[in-house]
Amino acid sequence: MILVTGGSGLTGSHLLLELSRKKEPFRALKRNSSDISWVRRIFDYYEPEKGRELFFRIEWVDGDITDPDSLTAAFRNVTTVYHTAGYVSFDPGEHKKIRKINVEGTRHMVELSLKYGVEHFCHVSSVAAIGKHHQGDELWVAETDYRKMRKERSCYAFSKLLGELEVWRAMEEGLRAVIVNPVIILGPGNWNRGSARLFKTMQNGLPFYPPGSNGFVDVRDVVRIMLLLTERSISGERFVINAENLSYRQVLSWIAHGFGRKAPSIRTSKGLMTLAAMTDWMISRLSGKPHLLTRETARTSASHIFYNNEKIRSTLGYEFIPVKEAVNNAVRFSLSLADYADHAD
Ligand SMILES: NC(=O)c1ccc[n+]([C@@H]2O[C@H](COP(=O)([O-])OP(=O)(O)OC[C@H]3O[C@@H](n4cnc5c(N)ncnc54)[C@H](OP(=O)(O)O)[C@@H]3O)[C@@H](O)[C@H]2O)c1
Repeated sequence: MILVTGGSGLTGSHLLLELSRKKEPFRALKRNSSDISWVRRIFDYYEPEKGRELFFRIEWVDGDITDPDSLTAAFRNVTTVYHTAGYVSFDPGEHKKIRKINVEGTRHMVELSLKYGVEHFCHVSSVAAIGKHHQGDELWVAETDYRKMRKERSCYAFSKLLGELEVWRAMEEGLRAVIVNPVIILGPGNWNRGSARLFKTMQNGLPFYPPGSNGFVDVRDVVRIMLLLTERSISGERFVINAENLSYRQVLSWIAHGFGRKAPSIRTSKGLMTLAAMTDWMISRLSGKPHLLTRETARTSASHIFYNNEKIRSTLGYEFIPVKEAVNNAVRFSLSLADYADHAD
């Protein structure tokens, strides 16, 4: 039996779709409050004929990774765990919640995996948990770069590092585990959270672009790689998962074109981004809404960091989906939502 955490999220839902096309039984953890209607939408989008049938192959089980007692039923007869559940937020005001889910939640998952004799554990970390090295004038990230724990680190990056360390510790205690460290994941998902929010923002139109660059990857690549690593029983390793290093301007322009909008043409300076971050912080404090543009996101979106994907490419002989296709796929999904309600049963 396979257990997937975070099944209602971007990565988890795509993993469930891949598993639903295979024979092995699988189960998905969700919270009482989880909205699984997005999972159904994603299944119907990729599989217009069989989406419903595939969706009903999922055995949902309720539980919360921050409450280990709630996870007993989820672990029944489980031999493989894909841990995709996490909280993606850069709001320092949410640091307790971020840490509870990404660190304590992961600790409970690995401890229960050890307790119930899970044979293989695949953990979704992030490149935020890895350090950087200089290559000439450029800053690069590779699996061997260890990140120092520094107080000024973003609470999200810090939580992903500590969460990953829980998995490394469990490996020392005998758990066979593999870690994937994705860059920004692009794909069809709930528009109101995580990286999928980018598409909502761009559909509404955005004249600005941040000056920096980043790594981007299609969610389908992330989950296929997770399955391949587990099938090959690879453990004791981590892998940077990056398709291409690209400027924000390029990626935002592709998204804008997909929605029939003008590409963003006004380059924001680092100073302006920081000012916008401070304004966003004040608005979030007054309105109670989440703080989306933080000083940390302002800083990263102004920097140029390159992610080395050589290790995963040579280990699996893997070829990534071009980021332009990842963007077009997510745009097509977003556009398909308009008439989805009329056709769903
Ligand atoms: N998105 C990216 O660009 C990116 C990049 C690098 C790494 N990552 C990492 O990849 C993983 C998946 O990210 P994503 O973008 O797919 O996330 P997402 O779409 O935001 O989904 C997060 C999932 O985690 C679940 N979850 C959160 N707290 C939970 C709890 N206490 N108990 C059980 N389930 C809980 C959520 O359930 P609910 O539906 O109930 O909220 C949801 O299913 C995360 O660990 C993230 O840190 C993401």
